[in-house]
Order: sequence, then C-alpha cells, then structure tokens
Amino acid sequence: MEVTHRPFGVTKDGQSVTEFRLTNRQGAYVKLLDYGCTVRSLVLPDAVGKMTDIVLGYDTLREYEERDGYLGAVVGRFANRIGGGKLVIDGQEYLLAVNDGPNHLHGGFRGFDRRVWKADWNEKGITFSRFSPEGEEGYPGNLQVAVRYEWSDENELTIHYTAETDAATAVNLTNHSYFNLNGSGSVLEHLLQINADQITENDPDCLPTGRFIELADCPAMDFRTAKPVGRDIEIPDQNLRNGKGYDHNYVLRSPGIDREAARLYSPASGITLVCRTTQPGVQLYSANFLTERCGKNGVIYYPRGGVCLETQHFPDAIAKGFVPSPILRPGERLEETTIYAFSSEKP
Ligand code: GLA
Repeated sequence: MEVTHRPFGVTKDGQSVTEFRLTNRQGAYVKLLDYGCTVRSLVLPDAVGKMTDIVLGYDTLREYEERDGYLGAVVGRFANRIGGGKLVIDGQEYLLAVNDGPNHLHGGFRGFDRRVWKADWNEKGITFSRFSPEGEEGYPGNLQVAVRYEWSDENELTIHYTAETDAATAVNLTNHSYFNLNGSGSVLEHLLQINADQITENDPDCLPTGRFIELADCPAMDFRTAKPVGRDIEIPDQNLRNGKGYDHNYVLRSPGIDREAARLYSPASGITLVCRTTQPGVQLYSANFLTERCGKNGVIYYPRGGVCLETQHFPDAIAKGFVPSPILRPGERLEETTIYAFSSEKP
C-alpha cells in the first residue's frame, strides 16, 4: 500500500489540515482527513471496472466545518444519544452538552468530528490520535484516544479504536460514513441484511426507552433476510415514524471480527459491503436528515442518499443499564475494531 498526502486547507481557527491517500495494489484508494478522522473518499471498481466513489463527502474543509451530518467522520466521545445530557457514573452526575433537542448527541457541539487529530503513518496504515481533556463537552476524565485505519489489497478498510482514561468516563466511538454503492442517487434499492434479532426501542426523540423490540414481531424494521432498504421505509410503523425512516440501533446476534454483522449490496453497481465488528450494536441510519446539498465533484446529495452502518455501543447505555457497559475506567484500555470489506461481482 502507498500513502501520499497533501494540504487540504486551514481551519477557521488556523490549524492546517492534511488529506492522506491510501492506495492499494489494485489501484483502489481511501482518502482520509486528519480533521475528524474523516473518510472523505473510498474509490473502487464496480462490476464493470468503473472506479466509483462510494462514500459521501465534500470538496472543501469549510464545508466539513460548517455543514451538519458528520459525513465520514469519527464521532465521540460518545456516539449517539445520552438522555438529557445526564451522565451518571458511580453516583456522580455530569452534565454534558445538550445539542439534539433535549439530549446529548455524538459528543456534543464540538465532538471528535470537529477536531484536528495528530497523524502517524507508514506503509501499513495511518493512526490518528488526540488528547481529549476532562471537561470537554462536559465529560469526566482525560482521554487519550486513537483511531487506526488500514486499507488492504483486498479492499478491506479496518478501523481500530483505542482509548485510555485517568477517571471513569463514557466512551463510544464510531465512524459515520454514508455509503452509496452507486456513487450517487438513492440507496433505497440497495439490498441490506443485518444479523440482528432485536433493536433497542426509541422514543420520538430517538432516545432508547430501555425496551427491546423483537424483529420477528416487527416486519418493517426486520433485516434478518436481505431486502431493499426502501421496501418498507414508508410503512406506517411507529418506529419508522420516530426516526423519520431508519435511525435505530440493531442488537448484533454475535459480534466479532470473524462474523458478519451486516451486508449491503447494490444490484446496479454490483458492489457489496460486508461489515464485521467487535461492537455490540449497529445504528442503521438511512440519511433521513441529510438535507439536499452539493457534495464532492458537484454531486447533489439528498435525504436517503446514503446508508450509515454505525457500529457502536448501545445509545444511552449507562442510564438504561444496557450491557456491555460503555464505561471506561483508569487502567482499562478500550479496543474495538470494525471492518468494512468491499467486493464487486464480475458480470
Ligand atoms: C445518527 C443519529 C441521527 C442523526 C445522524 C446525523 O445516525 O442517530 O439521528 O443525528 O446521526 O445527522
């Protein structure tokens, strides 16, 4: 694998941002930014050999700084929601930034997605790291966090997260890439399968109620067998209404990097994505809140123009008592891995 880099811009507060390009032996490549550990492009051949960029992103740094939606970024310190922004650990209450209606979402107003990380790279991959001080967006504990990306000759993107703290805190790290296996247009015809028998039920603000829903009892939410993302999305189902589409945490049947968590396939391009992860859940988000905007190379993005498979710990896990617990304590080391493996079916 070859790593090259170029300046990508300067943030509004004067920090230089670099774009790294990881190219494998097949000529397929990933472009990463040290701003938000962002996956900006992921370019690989479709079934007829046409190089296709299958993630959403922007041309300029300013757009990454100003637009919402977390395109391609790593989100943290705690991905997804914490009810009322109230974090209670060992009887001590911490008030986090409340940035999503009544709740805390994706690390607050300025989460990990809006920070410049330190980059170290070699021919095997690139590691982004940062120090998140105690008090950042309200969190307890000084956190040293790293995200390592590797891009194999077999078109597998591996994301490895590590973190250590000096006081008990909540950590939940994910990547918020929007996949569109055709490069543009709708994803409603993509076939999706998720190896999950349950979801965590949401309230109308997309916060877990603490209850689980059996997918056998809820066909609209059920992806145990592959079906088009859009097939049931307009069904008058309360879960879909709460998320304005899919925006739900699927409880993986058997997490682990040697087992498949989810599979996404586009019949139009012949590209398949297989997701494997050590994390217990995956948030399926059908880009319901992605307002119309101009993306890379003049491509227009629309709601439902991407699928996010955000591997994660369950939302609001501490307050709801979900296991495994996302509390990280001094002396412990968080280690999570997610692999997105791509292939294209030759016609
Ligand atoms: C996650 C959330 C959504 C939304 C998107 C980004 O998927 O669950 O509600 O915030 O991120 O817009």
